[in-house]
Amino acid sequence: MSNSEAYEVPSYEGRQWWKEAVVYQVYPRSFNDANGDGIGDLKGITEKLPYLAKLGINVIWLSPVFDSPNVDNGYDISDYFAIMSDFGTMEDFDEMLETAHEHGIKILMDLVANHTSDEHPWFKESRSSKDNPYRDYYIWKDPKGFDEDGNPIPPNNWASEFGGPAWEWDEATGQFYLHIFFKEQPDLNWENEKVREDLYSMVRWWLDKGVDGFRLDAINIISKPEGYPDDPSTDFEKHTSSIPFVIANGTMVHPWMKELTRETFSRYDVMTVGETSATSPEDAKLWAGYHTGELNMIFHFDHMGVDNDPNGNLGGKWSYAPYKLTELKRILNDWQTTLAGNAWGSLYWNNHDQPRVVSRFGNDSDEFRTLSAKQLATTLHFMQGTPYIYQGEELGMTNVKFDSIEDYRDGDSIRFYEDMHIDHKRLSHEEAMQAIYIKGRDNARTPVQWDASANGGFSPEGVTPWIAVNPNYPAINAEAVLADEDSIFYHYQQLVALRRGKLKDLMVYA
Ligand code: NOJ
Repeated sequence: MSNSEAYEVPSYEGRQWWKEAVVYQVYPRSFNDANGDGIGDLKGITEKLPYLAKLGINVIWLSPVFDSPNVDNGYDISDYFAIMSDFGTMEDFDEMLETAHEHGIKILMDLVANHTSDEHPWFKESRSSKDNPYRDYYIWKDPKGFDEDGNPIPPNNWASEFGGPAWEWDEATGQFYLHIFFKEQPDLNWENEKVREDLYSMVRWWLDKGVDGFRLDAINIISKPEGYPDDPSTDFEKHTSSIPFVIANGTMVHPWMKELTRETFSRYDVMTVGETSATSPEDAKLWAGYHTGELNMIFHFDHMGVDNDPNGNLGGKWSYAPYKLTELKRILNDWQTTLAGNAWGSLYWNNHDQPRVVSRFGNDSDEFRTLSAKQLATTLHFMQGTPYIYQGEELGMTNVKFDSIEDYRDGDSIRFYEDMHIDHKRLSHEEAMQAIYIKGRDNARTPVQWDASANGGFSPEGVTPWIAVNPNYPAINAEAVLADEDSIFYHYQQLVALRRGKLKDLMVYA
């Protein structure tokens, strides 16, 4: 790695273009299907750039478009240098990037660097033998022992984010590998300098291509706690996850963020935002401090936990309790005041992992949907930080309720249903579905509703989209909001225009 002596830690104090930006998240699979195969694609994004320019945003965060077997919709990358064929080609990508730039819109890529797909060549090499040079690219451990039946016991009791043990046994080489997410997403070993070097050169490759920055997926779990201690909260029957308890924010995360910034981002004029669950406002001063030389901002999760029931009988997000407005305000206020003058923040209600905000913190009835969507938008955009709009939020898109688990596509919800209803029999079908209706990630992943035609205009008539369109598309769609000057869309448009224009000093910097 390069010598750090001549390196000047970047300062993020004062005016910066990314503080004044408004970001729009595109989840490509569900955005716009240009080639009529039922799956959103890059040409579909290019087609809608004038629409996004009309909304007024100036940055797109693009969820992963890299080659992937799609176990986790692209968050399992098998080739960091290629485009997933479902989405198109590298030429389509270049065309999208160029056209976005012509519209004054920058593109952030999604850097998934905690793990790869198990189909990534590094992992294929790694699992092939214990003395393969790539063995140490991932986290392999011997079993703790063997039970009476001769089954290997995992090195510790960590639970994966999606339920079940975070360790997978590899019969061929007689060791376990770690996967904090699906077993098809083995965790990379950041302790290995070669892994870090390979990742950094990949990041530079994309930055050299002209992309404008990165959102860093699950970046605060790259440093695992020394000694791999057991997680006292693990309860497989409750479907817990070990991330918040023992895995998040390990001791090396900050040195590695400084190194990553020095080796990559600091050499370009780009924007970075880290996804950091289980992170406090005090921690954020390190992650996104004006003088720490790490990231520009992070996504914290505190307000996303406001409707979890900590005493519930399910783990993490799945135990629901109605949220308290005072608690939501307290959390937002805490972040605003702790960060002020020290670090920059991000502002969001929605993303591809969260339910739709108008259903969650608003009221999605015919009577109040528009009003509450506008009110939520106003609250968010008048806080300090860089705001993010998730696709369809500007239309007031709502949660969805499919009758059968067969209609769901997200492995997180499907695993939850199988684990809690079928395997552990702790929940009835109705109870399991109810939890998925409230917290499932597919709420955010149904196709964007462009108009009142078949498939909401996402895919042409006669095509079956990869996930069904929310049946409310005849009433809630882009064509309808664009035709109504009092709509949610134009409310967002005004907020964005004020932030980026006349009220910049007040809304961004005051
Ligand atoms: C966070 C991403 O937003 C989510 O969609 C994904 O499943 C996990 N990280 C694993 O990459």
